[in-house]
Amino acid sequence: MGVTNELFPNKRANPPGNCLFNGTPEDHTNFDAAGMQITSDTVGFTVFMRFLAPPAPSNVGIPGNPAPQSIQNGKSLFSQVHCDLCHTASLQTASSGFTSALDNQSAALYSDLLVHNMGSGLSDRVAQGAAGASEFRSAPLWGVGQRIFFLHDGRATPQNGGLLAAIQAHTSPGSEANGVVFLFNILSESQKQDLLNFLRSL
Ligand code: HEC
Repeated sequence: MGVTNELFPNKRANPPGNCLFNGTPEDHTNFDAAGMQITSDTVGFTVFMRFLAPPAPSNVGIPGNPAPQSIQNGKSLFSQVHCDLCHTASLQTASSGFTSALDNQSAALYSDLLVHNMGSGLSDRVAQGAAGASEFRSAPLWGVGQRIFFLHDGRATPQNGGLLAAIQAHTSPGSEANGVVFLFNILSESQKQDLLNFLRSL
């Protein structure tokens, strides 16, 4: 968004002198304020997000109203074809500096939170830190049934196949997921549907 802050105190490019009307960083700790006003907006956002509850899985409202058995099959197939190599069903939180209620909780996020090479097809030609253009963090799949735009640039949409398009976009030269998508593709049509129903229940 271009708002400078305590981690990124400088504008990206040197703006022409006549365009810089304010001091930087634009968002900062307000030492002369009181209470909650002291924190910078960035810290405020972080605290807000840290305390958001995880999305609740639900079998309700899934297109086609699938039987619970289909969702259960989909769950087994998800690990049978090894989607869970990257989308780890659940991880344990560490101890929290904020509240003991967040200590050692299991979080069903469906991600290993690691960066993987996803192949030339998904590459966006943007390198970030040590991650190359085709490397992305496994998207947590919790709440995926309540979203309609998938992948880092939202390229998988209801218009082009949604979740199915997102899965197929995992495969292209160089992708670590090629073998897994191969196994997905040789499932029967009803097994694929089960797996999609499972994703929609998350
Ligand atoms: C090699 C690791 C890897 C494997 C294996 C893998 N994924 Fe992914 N998945 C990713 C990464 C990385 C992303 C994020 C890509 C991006 O942001 O463009 C992702 C994104 C997704 C998304 C989009 C989520 C969103 O909110 O945008 C879905 C759905 C998904 N994966 C489902 C699956 C399914 C189903 C399988 C098994 C058939 C699978 N994945 C196997 C790494 C993997």
